[in-house]
Amino acid sequence: MMKITVINATEKKGVTYRLKEIFLEPFRENADITEFYLPKDGPGFCTGCTNCFREKQEMCKDAACVQRIEKAMLEADLLVFTSPAYVFHTTGAMKTLLDHFGYRWMPHRPAKEMFGKRAVIITQCLGAGGSSTAKDIHDSLSWWGVSCVKKSSFKLMSEINWDKIPEKKRSEMRSKLIRLAERMLKIDYSRPAHTNLIVKAKFMAVRMLQTDLGKKNPEYTDFKYWKANGWLGKTRPWK
Ligand SMILES: Cc1cc2nc3c(=O)[nH]c(=O)nc-3n(C[C@H](O)[C@H](O)[C@H](O)COP(=O)(O)O)c2cc1C
Repeated sequence: MMKITVINATEKKGVTYRLKEIFLEPFRENADITEFYLPKDGPGFCTGCTNCFREKQEMCKDAACVQRIEKAMLEADLLVFTSPAYVFHTTGAMKTLLDHFGYRWMPHRPAKEMFGKRAVIITQCLGAGGSSTAKDIHDSLSWWGVSCVKKSSFKLMSEINWDKIPEKKRSEMRSKLIRLAERMLKIDYSRPAHTNLIVKAKFMAVRMLQTDLGKKNPEYTDFKYWKANGWLGKTRPWK
């Protein structure tokens, strides 16, 4: 059965929630869906201890929570991120979670599973800031190694209370989300997504950096990880 992991940047059952529910509708019967609502299901703030970067991710004060979310993401065929725009950006709760995955950015220890994954980012705003909100999330996904990311961003324009949004506007949003869901449903998830040039270029640049760092300090955590994966040789995290 297909697995979907959803990270919601708000706990509120408002517009973001409704849009996400519409998107998930076509998957309900055939997918195993795991959802996280932030901040309730998320970690506390990153305190900058850098234990995850320098030593082990398990040394983070929030490791239990972060690792539970990471496991669900690594096991998923499709990742879904939802967020309202808060002052032109994603919510503080989502930023907090993304900070905790700094150690999974390519210059550190990216997870090879991410290179073949598909993701959808759904954002909405009243008038402006939906795209920069999606970009906040996309920046992390791209640096984690995810190539196949579809963004769907909405401008509500008149009203932020779902029940008061004009029916015409609601049905326009519904059609766009259902079309996206149907497109995502057609994918053969037994095959990894194509890794694009942007992700490959990032990987190759970091590979050079890691090779250099390793010459200076062969005990460097990230270098050892890259080496153990064979990425400094001919092995690549994509097929
Ligand atoms: C703190 C806060 C900041 C917001 N900032 C913006 C913004 O910069 N631009 C915008 O168009 N809407 C902004 N909004 C509206 C939200 O993006 C969203 O449309 C609204 O919260 C309804 O979604 P929800 O029911 O999922 O919370 C803001 C809302 C809140 C609560």
